Amino acid sequence: MEIKKIGVMGCGLMGCGIAEVSAKAGYDVLVSEINQNLLDKGMQAIDESLARAVKAGKMTDADKATVLQRIKGTIKIADFGDRDLMIEAAVENLELKKKIFTELDTIVPKDSILATNTSCLSVIAIASATKRQDKVVGMHFFNPVPVMKLLELVRTVATSEETLAEAKKVGEKLGKSIIVAPDVPGFIVNRLLMPHLIEAFKSYESGLASREDIDKGVQLGLGYPMGPLALADYVGLDTIVMIGDAMFEETKDSHMAIPVILRKMVAAGWYGRKSGKGFYDYTKK
Ligand SMILES: NC(=O)c1ccc[n+]([C@@H]2O[C@H](COP(=O)([O-])OP(=O)(O)OC[C@H]3O[C@@H](n4cnc5c(N)ncnc54)[C@H](O)[C@@H]3O)[C@@H](O)[C@H]2O)c1
Repeated sequence: MEIKKIGVMGCGLMGCGIAEVSAKAGYDVLVSEINQNLLDKGMQAIDESLARAVKAGKMTDADKATVLQRIKGTIKIADFGDRDLMIEAAVENLELKKKIFTELDTIVPKDSILATNTSCLSVIAIASATKRQDKVVGMHFFNPVPVMKLLELVRTVATSEETLAEAKKVGEKLGKSIIVAPDVPGFIVNRLLMPHLIEAFKSYESGLASREDIDKGVQLGLGYPMGPLALADYVGLDTIVMIGDAMFEETKDSHMAIPVILRKMVAAGWYGRKSGKGFYDYTKK
């Protein structure tokens, strides 16, 4: 089967990026949101991201127009009826993802592939909500999707060789470098990242050092491109809490336990960059 039409569910941080890189690679893209307001915001974010690429000399205005023409938006799941590949990028919640997959299973053609961009949830648990477990795979992109080269494919016990091969083909067409991970909590990358972030939250919470010094220490001392607190703001603190909770639930490993400070920040609506405030304040220039 040749994949030509991609559907993306969710047009938040990740969905926008996935829709953008898919359209840039020449795919016909349909992206959805839960309401028109969020869809408009998502489409605007895609427009702005492409405008930045034009400004940086990476594409022309004509290229931008061509890419935008390939992306349509919808707020109706039924519109995904002609998609060859669905990539779900809704919020990190197992019950929601299962509900979405049950619905998609009845809507998309029977040989289409269903992929999830989950950061850490069990892909087989999501696949179990469908009658096509062999056609379900994890396609874990990284933020910001147009910039980050990695695509982590997650193969479950039921994912067929053919599905994995198709997902690889798409990833390569999107210009990504691919790794294949087993369906374990956090896969490869988040299994390594989450204990690092959580230790940084605890260090800050205990007053070990200022947020700036924690970030500078990791950045300049370990050679990481971003400090852990700045990175957490970038990923979204709400998303980090959901990932940590899901990983703790499955592993019962205390290294994955989200510290109180993060819950308080999320309760206050401090989600990081996307809400204007997290460990740092983004409301001032
Ligand atoms: N933020 C990251 O750095 C990152 C990286 C890799 C993977 N992920 C994963 O990607 C997924 C999305 O994360 P995000 O950071 O983009 O979150 P986000 O909150 O920015 O966006 C999620 C969007 O999904 C929408 N949504 C919820 N239910 C929906 C439905 N039924 N149909 C369509 N849209 C729906 C929400 O309205 C929201 O706009 C999560 O599973 C997350 O774990 C996130």
